[in-house]
Amino acid sequence: MTPRLTDTLTPVKKSALPDAQTVTDVKHWTDRLFSFRITRPAALRFRSGEFVMIGLMGDPDPGTGKQKPLLRAYSIASPSWHDELEFYSIKVQDGLLTSRLQHIRPGDGIILRPKPVGTLVHDALLPGKNIWFFATGTGFAPFASLLRDPQTYENYDEVIITHTCREVGELEYGRQLIEDIRGDAMLNELLGTEHLAKLKYYPTTTREESANMGRITDLMRDKTIFEDLGMPPLSPDTDRAMVCGNLAFNLDIKDLLEGYGLEEGANSNPKQYVVEKAFLDWRCVYSGDETRFWESAGLRHQRDKAP
Ligand SMILES: Cc1cc2nc3c(=O)[nH]c(=O)nc-3n(C[C@H](O)[C@H](O)[C@H](O)COP(=O)(O)OP(=O)(O)OC[C@H]3O[C@@H](n4cnc5c(N)ncnc54)[C@H](O)[C@@H]3O)c2cc1C
Ligand SMILES: NC(=O)c1ccc[n+]([C@@H]2O[C@H](COP(=O)([O-])OP(=O)(O)OC[C@H]3O[C@@H](n4cnc5c(N)ncnc54)[C@H](OP(=O)(O)O)[C@@H]3O)[C@@H](O)[C@H]2O)c1
Repeated sequence: MTPRLTDTLTPVKKSALPDAQTVTDVKHWTDRLFSFRITRPAALRFRSGEFVMIGLMGDPDPGTGKQKPLLRAYSIASPSWHDELEFYSIKVQDGLLTSRLQHIRPGDGIILRPKPVGTLVHDALLPGKNIWFFATGTGFAPFASLLRDPQTYENYDEVIITHTCREVGELEYGRQLIEDIRGDAMLNELLGTEHLAKLKYYPTTTREESANMGRITDLMRDKTIFEDLGMPPLSPDTDRAMVCGNLAFNLDIKDLLEGYGLEEGANSNPKQYVVEKAFLDWRCVYSGDETRFWESAGLRHQRDKAP
């Protein structure tokens, strides 16, 4: 009998590893996107917007038969106050991890390395009036966390989230999350109903017709987004930004933000904007400008630790 993919890279039994957690819920959004929740270890503390390493056990070594964990970086999509951990994931059909991770079901175990890190945190920004979250694809995940964090609304007068995807279906996780934030009585109480009036959602698509068509970078250059939202272009005096998308997007947004006069910050040196990669495209490392790649990926100080 042909083994199923999940037979060779299996969810782990909860007792097999100290870092194993249990899957509590799985939702498939498209044939390329799904989200899931796992139990949260009591000792895990994180700041909304950070990422952790999660994964499954790898194939047995042909020589020794031993299995090693196969881990990937994942933004925690749930806010820091939540009693479970949520993740929003791509399904890469030939991806080592996600070709199998996409088959997890409630009750399965997955590995969580409980060491959260990341640059998309409030601490990395100086105080400001407006906060802009710019995402493409699964880069929405850290903002799903920050958008459910009361601190986001306490710190800023306006909270703007932009999300650019190729197709309308790829916006659905974010669209439903925004709808839940606006409509959920518990979240309204937690975040403050008056605070939620600050939330502005600006989804765009590039390859399928929708209300806002085009790359967000183009809509910033031609000022469409500012006209649509009734806001002026970003200024270092009032605006702060967090960016999470593919490499080219991160680089383009950085150029735009610096053109507006914003400077890049870090945990150790808060400034006006921060950037993090939604994924690493390893082909870029060998084909392009490596220094810019690592910078845009936010891995300047983590290069030796990169997977
Ligand atoms: C800091 C950080 C945070 C991340 N957070 C998330 C997250 O919240 N959700 C998530 O799905 N992924 C996230 N990733 C990417 C994730 O680590 C894996 O790359 C992804 O799970 C695919 O793993 P894989 O082993 O199946 O394929 P890999 O071998 O890791 O990737 C194969 C190829 O698939 C493409 N790819 C990988 N990830 C994505 C993606 N997210 N969107 C579109 N194309 C992709 C790239 O071209 C990549 O070269 C993050 C990466 C980093 C560095
Ligand atoms: N999404 C799919 O249906 C699909 C299907 C099969 C395979 N893939 C592969 O999966 C990988 C990831 O695809 P993805 O769609 O998740 O992510 P992606 O290629 O990063 O695109 C996500 C969104 O970001 C936009 N974008 C890309 N570069 C940008 C830039 N420099 N500035 C502003 N916006 C930018 C894209 O617009 P544009 O459309 O203008 O590029 C798209 O709307 C790609 O390698 C792709 O070939 C995707």
